[in-house]
Amino acid sequence: MYYRAIFCIRLATAALLNLTVVISSTAWAKAREAELADGGMVATRSSWASQIGADILSQGGNAVDAAVAVGFGLAVSYPSAGNLGGGGFMVIRLADGTVITNDHREKAPGNATKDMFLDENGDVVKGLSTRSHLAAGVPGSVAGLLDVLEKYGTMTRAQVMQPAIELASNGIVLDRDLAESFARRKREFAKYPASAAVFTKGSGSYQIGDLWRQPDLAASLERIKERGKAGFYQGETADLLVAEMQRGGGLISHEDLRSYESVWREPIRGTYRGHEIVSMPPPSSGGVLLVQMLNMLEAHDLAAMGYGSAQAIHTIIEAERRAYADRAQHLGDVDFYPVPITQLTDKEYAKARFANFDPTKAGRSEDIEAGRVPVESMETTHASVIDAKGNAVAYTTTLNLSYGSKIVVAGAGFLLNNEMDDFSVKENVANYYGVIGREANRIEAGKRMLSSMTPTIVLKEGAPILVTGSPGGSTIITTTMQVILNVIDHQMSLSDAVSSPRFHHQWLPDRVLVEPFALSPDTRAVLEGMGHAQLLDLGTRFSLGDANSVMRTERGYEGMADPRNAGSAVGVAKPSGE
Ligand code: GLY
Repeated sequence: MYYRAIFCIRLATAALLNLTVVISSTAWAKAREAELADGGMVATRSSWASQIGADILSQGGNAVDAAVAVGFGLAVSYPSAGNLGGGGFMVIRLADGTVITNDHREKAPGNATKDMFLDENGDVVKGLSTRSHLAAGVPGSVAGLLDVLEKYGTMTRAQVMQPAIELASNGIVLDRDLAESFARRKREFAKYPASAAVFTKGSGSYQIGDLWRQPDLAASLERIKERGKAGFYQGETADLLVAEMQRGGGLISHEDLRSYESVWREPIRGTYRGHEIVSMPPPSSGGVLLVQMLNMLEAHDLAAMGYGSAQAIHTIIEAERRAYADRAQHLGDVDFYPVPITQLTDKEYAKARFANFDPTKAGRSEDIEAGRVPVESMETTHASVIDAKGNAVAYTTTLNLSYGSKIVVAGAGFLLNNEMDDFSVKENVANYYGVIGREANRIEAGKRMLSSMTPTIVLKEGAPILVTGSPGGSTIITTTMQVILNVIDHQMSLSDAVSSPRFHHQWLPDRVLVEPFALSPDTRAVLEGMGHAQLLDLGTRFSLGDANSVMRTERGYEGMADPRNAGSAVGVAKPSGE
């Protein structure tokens, strides 16, 4: 297996690009082989979490049981994004045809205000929405995972949580991926004694091969196992979290925790060249933009243009440009703002929106505003799971930036998110990912901040053929879409579809981020000739997202942990006799 050490940080280059990028030690031109199995598959960013999920499937659990176990497993073994103190989205498609999503996105605390990150002159206070106790939204992951388990799982809380509890309590022998990731952020963790206690080893750093134990996190997990949601949103964990807020000037209160609820939402549905697309609705922008872009692209024969051709790349960039302009204007929490979902995902709307597309010339973002619609109504991680019966779960979860706010709740052992930065803290001012927002995504008490997470299931003839999604902030949606285009238009194997180099455009700033090998010199020249002036190379040590995916093929289930990172796909054999 081709293993690459990776870690996510915001370096000087990343700051320039305003993007969380995955840093890797080598280029990924050499793809991993996909894992193959006939009885189920789990692909995640953490080999421990993938193994936990596969074990649950082997013990007779369904894909939902496995996804929930993976969620708690990631909270232990992939702490930069897996979490108890963050939020996420799950798209579920059961073998009986049921399709539903669970939104456990963080919420603004009850005392949050529109201008809470502005100074007296109305200017944004740098770092307040990302590196302070005020950055934390009310965590949703625990509520979501437990609600999903209760409604669609078959196992007990104890069964799905025990592996994560044991991992936290017995410890993990650190590999390069985790040891280097902790060491790199030592200075940031040092600001908070509880964070330093978890992620640094005395005054030094953890080394590869060290045993890393998390007793406080194990105790927090135990309380959830014993008392369910009350074991997190009430009682000792809630007391510790509120005490952490009071110590650091944060806003989350007992009432915010007690009243937090995950929400069951109807998925965004679309079609693309005979396939059905099922993805996440607002408060994620992911599903809406994905379907909108696919609608714009459907009229253009990408397969005939060819993978990696200047014509195909140009066409995709122009779809991205228009969709992200709509994101800034129209997308937010549907419980607070009338997001025009039906119109934005309508094929006729896409046709009109793409009518000014010039196949020979780059558009200019300054000329493209959000489409008019009749008013009607980095770091994240993605896991894909499927079981023998065809139950499928796409699950994306996050603390927002890598290790969220970097603040561990003292005594409780888990990190707080810094998801408040995903709100538009000021109209038309870019957030960490460089995306702007307006009224639809302004801060309001109790509102969910807009996300780009795009857990997605693609169906063919009524059955799931692809489960996919990605981390990467605003780049999540374009990464997810390119995996889908690679499979449907370019007929790639899963290994190629996930590994192939990608690019990203998001309307503003008006530039294209380009992974190594995405553009040959002559393709680049053609694109520049069309007017794509800003083709920014991410370099061989940077990459866009990691799309851990599962695909159903004639050979069985294939699983791919994106070769841009560590992690693994673990398959399960069908029990004999089935
Ligand atoms: N925090 C990244 C996202 O939700 O899009």
